[in-house]
Amino acid sequence: MHEVLRRAAAHAEAYRAHSAIAEAAPARNYAGSLAAFDAPLPQTGSDPAQVIDDLERLALPGLRNMTGPRFFGWVIGASHPAGVAADWMVSAWGQNAGNHVASPSSAAVETVAMRWLLDLFDLPREASVGFVTGATMANFVCLAAARGEMLRRVGWDVEAQGLFGAPELHVILGADAHSTVFSALQYLGLGHDRVRRVATGAQGQVLPEAFAAALADVTGPALAILQSGQINTGACDPLDALIPLARARGAWVHVDGAFGLWARACPEVAAQAAGAELADSWACDGHKWLQTPYDCGYAIVRDAAAHARAMTIAASYLPVVEAGERDPSHYVPELSRRARGFATWAMIRTLGRDGIAEMIARHCRLARRMAATLAAEPGVVVVNQVVLNQIIVRFGDDAGTRATIRRVQEDGIIFAGGATWRGQWVMRLSVISGGIDDAEADKSAAAILSAWRAVQAAG
Ligand SMILES: Cc1ncc(COP(=O)(O)O)c(C=O)c1O
Repeated sequence: MHEVLRRAAAHAEAYRAHSAIAEAAPARNYAGSLAAFDAPLPQTGSDPAQVIDDLERLALPGLRNMTGPRFFGWVIGASHPAGVAADWMVSAWGQNAGNHVASPSSAAVETVAMRWLLDLFDLPREASVGFVTGATMANFVCLAAARGEMLRRVGWDVEAQGLFGAPELHVILGADAHSTVFSALQYLGLGHDRVRRVATGAQGQVLPEAFAAALADVTGPALAILQSGQINTGACDPLDALIPLARARGAWVHVDGAFGLWARACPEVAAQAAGAELADSWACDGHKWLQTPYDCGYAIVRDAAAHARAMTIAASYLPVVEAGERDPSHYVPELSRRARGFATWAMIRTLGRDGIAEMIARHCRLARRMAATLAAEPGVVVVNQVVLNQIIVRFGDDAGTRATIRRVQEDGIIFAGGATWRGQWVMRLSVISGGIDDAEADKSAAAILSAWRAVQAAG
């Protein structure tokens, strides 16, 4: 028993020491990893310590170094050791964090982490927070609460009656909303195509005139979905201008702030997400800018009763929640669940308000620094205004950009992916790895420019 845990700790420690300096690319791809793991179903058991050794040996070559300082793919935090260690304890304790009787500490730590998060984000303190797997589920939970409350206001109980025969609920959202918002609408029976897409500006922010026109165009219950932190540009919708328009119309406003809501925890960039406090619900991730390990997201709803109505699971064998108590499962889709509050609690304790603000400010500063270095190179164009931590860059044309992304990935010094933005290929860089500093940012920009020069030299 002790040996298996000790070996896991030793392997993890060795991995993290290496990841701080290692290259970003895995040595083995999916096919190679599948071949490594592939084996017939074992008939008999094995020594658990040996199983952990084998697991490490088989997995290691196919792990991408997402915790290192030169990983810029998607929007992925670096799983800070304090959050990882707290999460190990969660696994070792084996708690089912569904309700406050089953695991009082698991429920209580969520209550405290919830208060800390609302304080950090400066959101209404009466709001409730569901600790979910990520922003995808956070969007889903918040939109479920919105659907229920907006239909309840026109006399329809969607939780009991479902959607057949319900009054129409209009959904208005920016044309550059994140794909997971559309997924949430799909899961909720609202349809990902049955929406009014509002025109956005060059950076992907919703245009106030277009938003006002969309609101004026619908009658009956409405749900407006805005965002703080566009996945490519990092742009935030002008929430302080948009939300009052929607509220005047009686619409529910949801803000997808998977990473961008964290701007509110950093005085230097808080203005980007100004006005978010006026919304009705917010989705955010801990496994992005707070650097918790996966899975860690927050579904935040101003109207805690609407939140609980959408998610509560009741049964005679489950405890009744008295005043002053809180069951974690009443704010998320699952009953049995991981005790997700501990990693958040540990990360906020470890960094503190000041440490979180410093890290976010540093990431945004390094994003501007890298963008400036890249933009100074002939043929390289930084496409976005770097207002947060996201950079999108073009290298010559589409072919040059794709070749540079390929070359960067082959070189393996950093990891960056690509996307299309406004019909053109771009390299995407998300500066969000907890430990990145000036030297690593400079080394990364140099690696990208070296790849671009090699692409040009190859013709
Ligand atoms: C704006 C936005 N919304 C939602 C998501 C989905 O978050 P997750 O992958 O944690 O579910 C992301 C992920 O990058 C995002 O950037």
